[in-house]
Amino acid sequence: MIQIANVSKSYGSFDVLKDCSTTVNKGEVIVVCGPSGSGKSTLIKCVNGLEPFQSGQIIVNGTSVGDPKTNLSKLRAHVGMVFQHFELFPHMSITENLAIAQIKVLKRNRDEAVDKGLKLLDRVGLKAHAHKFPGQLSGGQQQRVAIARALAMDPICMLFDEPTSALDPEMINEVLDVMTELAQEGMTMMCVTHEMGFAKRVANRVIFMDHGRIVEDDSKDAFFANPRSERAQQFLAKILHH
Ligand SMILES: Nc1ncnc2c1ncn2[C@@H]1O[C@H](COP(=O)(O)OP(=O)(O)O)[C@@H](O)[C@H]1O
Ligand SMILES: [Mg+2]
Repeated sequence: MIQIANVSKSYGSFDVLKDCSTTVNKGEVIVVCGPSGSGKSTLIKCVNGLEPFQSGQIIVNGTSVGDPKTNLSKLRAHVGMVFQHFELFPHMSITENLAIAQIKVLKRNRDEAVDKGLKLLDRVGLKAHAHKFPGQLSGGQQQRVAIARALAMDPICMLFDEPTSALDPEMINEVLDVMTELAQEGMTMMCVTHEMGFAKRVANRVIFMDHGRIVEDDSKDAFFANPRSERAQQFLAKILHH
């Protein structure tokens, strides 16, 4: 589903991604972790063309992201992305938030879009909140709406960038539960997260990044049992014990 081959990216003389390669097969869940500034967000933004890269290749479901002929809006319409800050439209009701991209981008009619949005809202446990505005929901609820909104576009895969790191602790699980369900239903997912419980439950592989490099790309079991690099060992020791 996602092939990343020898991708490098720099900002001026600063190399933010260095020769990164990995493959995500259909139905796989990959957790990407690593210290702040290691390039995790940049890597997953490259996957749906939100960040350009200077060398290497990324192929998503047969489409080359870096090819200037690729219609990036069309690609992005079907690559779900969920950010740390939910980025719902504050002046629109939850129903509108769920429907708007379906109407504008996928050209669905309003009834169909609203119907689909409400079904997905129900699925994330928030049916009763359809008429509210984002500001009236908790952070965890807003993030579940953001996930429902991405799912309404019938994504071929989902990218998550630290979806729970802006949430209060008691709201983290409600979001992780939705992500776990998605994973169990076979969604292809690339998740930047430091929720190692989630990684242990649902990830197929764990990627560890440091200074723009993919330092580890291991099965979950191998990663947790015995990370190869010293940097990953230190990192794990820190986040598992705090
Ligand atoms: N637009 C930019 N210009 C220059 N440097 C940037 C820009 N965006 C990100 N960076 C740098 O790239 C590095 C990787 O950033 P990022 O991908 O956000 O890391 P992570 O998500 O792992 O914390 C950081 O050192 C960051 O400061
Ligand atoms: Mg980041």
